[in-house]
Amino acid sequence: MAQQETYNYKVVRQFAVMTVIWGIVGMLVGVLIAAQMAWPVLNFDIPWLTFSRLRPLHTNAVIFAFGGSALFATSYYVVQRTCHVRLFSDGLAAFTFWGWQLIIVLAAVSLPLGITSSKEYAELEWPIDLLITLVWVAYAVVFFGTLIKRRVSHIYVANWFYWAFILTIAVLHVFNNLEVPVSWTKSYSIYAGVQDAMVQWWYGHNAVGFFLTAGFLGIMYYFIPKQAERPVYSYRLSVVHFWALAFTYIWAGPHHLHYTALPDWTQSLGMVFSLILLAPSWGGMINGIMTLSGAWQKLRTDPILKFLIVSVSFYGMSTFEGPMMSIKTVNALSHYTDWTIGHVHSGALGWVGMVSIGAMYFLIPRLFGRPIFSVKLIETHFWISTIGIVLYISSMWIAGVMQGLMWRAVNTDGTLTYSFVESVQAMHPFYIVRTLGGLFFLSGMLLMAYNLWKTIKGSKPVVAAIPAPAAAH
Ligand code: HEM
Ligand code: HEM
Repeated sequence: MAQQETYNYKVVRQFAVMTVIWGIVGMLVGVLIAAQMAWPVLNFDIPWLTFSRLRPLHTNAVIFAFGGSALFATSYYVVQRTCHVRLFSDGLAAFTFWGWQLIIVLAAVSLPLGITSSKEYAELEWPIDLLITLVWVAYAVVFFGTLIKRRVSHIYVANWFYWAFILTIAVLHVFNNLEVPVSWTKSYSIYAGVQDAMVQWWYGHNAVGFFLTAGFLGIMYYFIPKQAERPVYSYRLSVVHFWALAFTYIWAGPHHLHYTALPDWTQSLGMVFSLILLAPSWGGMINGIMTLSGAWQKLRTDPILKFLIVSVSFYGMSTFEGPMMSIKTVNALSHYTDWTIGHVHSGALGWVGMVSIGAMYFLIPRLFGRPIFSVKLIETHFWISTIGIVLYISSMWIAGVMQGLMWRAVNTDGTLTYSFVESVQAMHPFYIVRTLGGLFFLSGMLLMAYNLWKTIKGSKPVVAAIPAPAAAH
């Protein structure tokens, strides 16, 4: 218990619990919108429940509420453990927790009401944007303040990924959301036309690169060595991984705007940098997986390690697929189709989802000082979610390629072979399979909530909270 006084675990506990809760909420909305695509009657003719309004609610909930809470929880934990000091300021840390929850609630109310700036992943209107900026600055002060007052000279590599994530998201958020308010609930971007699109996808792609990737790589670099009880496979490779990733990601945004009014050379530049990105991404994946060298047998018995290692495999898969999709001729087929949705969720469920789940199973029992209620349930969760992902992404891949091929099929006289409606009809069975996959993944999350609830409230004896600090390397 003395450990708990040394470090601020309260805020870590709060964010960790909210990770599980927001995960369930966001994925529940995901399952609903997936079902709406299979059975449109589920829109109920109620404006607040239409697909168009719930879709941004889903993306905001899973990325910023679920993913964001996981990043806050793990970064606050890792920076304290590896720097051997308490957080820079308890007050500011508490402010980031309550501020972030308020932002999520405001998003959950405003998006179904149809209040939106209409920029993807940046839909929230200007008053909420200002609040995000405030909370983010507080987050940066707490994180960097803790780094500055550290008691060890070295800064462990996981912290490098966290700080790149915090810094870059601050810059992206501020510049993409520069807007002129016309009322409390409506603003217009200061950018117009193709510049607007360019800035939006510079933001959008780096939200993927730094929010959904760099931060979670921080998780990978701390929690895999910890759970495997092995040092990082190559520390040198992790540093190369960091700099190469940070430098390359920032240029790749135009691959979202192939064949648009954006100057052609910009599109090619985006494509080239996306292809280069394969190298650091795979370097990182190899480093994560090879950390298990000499401890492979643990994969058989340790379901937390299974989550962590399979997540890194999905990271490798989606960062192979992404560069391929950025090749202009491939993108001509994949763009606007469900292939993109398959790619997104192999990254989102396979990588972001699984690595966060693994980290929460590691953290929550330690934070509450109790052994896990049931290891068997973690194992079941692992298999249910793996089956869910496979159903989700394979149905979307087939659906996407089929859509692309149907849209471009022409008869010998040059007319289109299929009408658009025929391609929509052809999707129906795949949308049902995707909904089923989502249901599997969601059921796993419910199992996790039950297991962790029983852990926290359960009858198993309290154990010594968290072992003495030791750097992960
Ligand atoms: C139970 C799990 C999930 C289900 C059933 C689900 C379902 C969906 C559906 C139906 C869409 C709309 C697709 C379309 O417009 O055609 C969507 C979009 C999206 N989801 Fe999920 N989702 C789940 C989990 C997640 C998670 C965990 C994340 C992120 C960490 C995520 C990130 C996204 C993103 C970024 C989009 C927008 C994709 C785009 O615009 O290309 N989803 N999801
Ligand atoms: C080397 C790494 C990656 C590259 C080069 C890459 C490339 C791409 C490309 C070319 C698209 C399709 C753009 C379009 O046709 O509209 C795309 C979409 C997307 N990717 Fe990736 N990807 C990578 C990794 C990832 C990872 C790891 C994730 C998730 C964690 C992810 C999430 C997304 C999302 C959310 C979209 C949809 C954006 C939208 O249209 O709303 N990507 N990516």
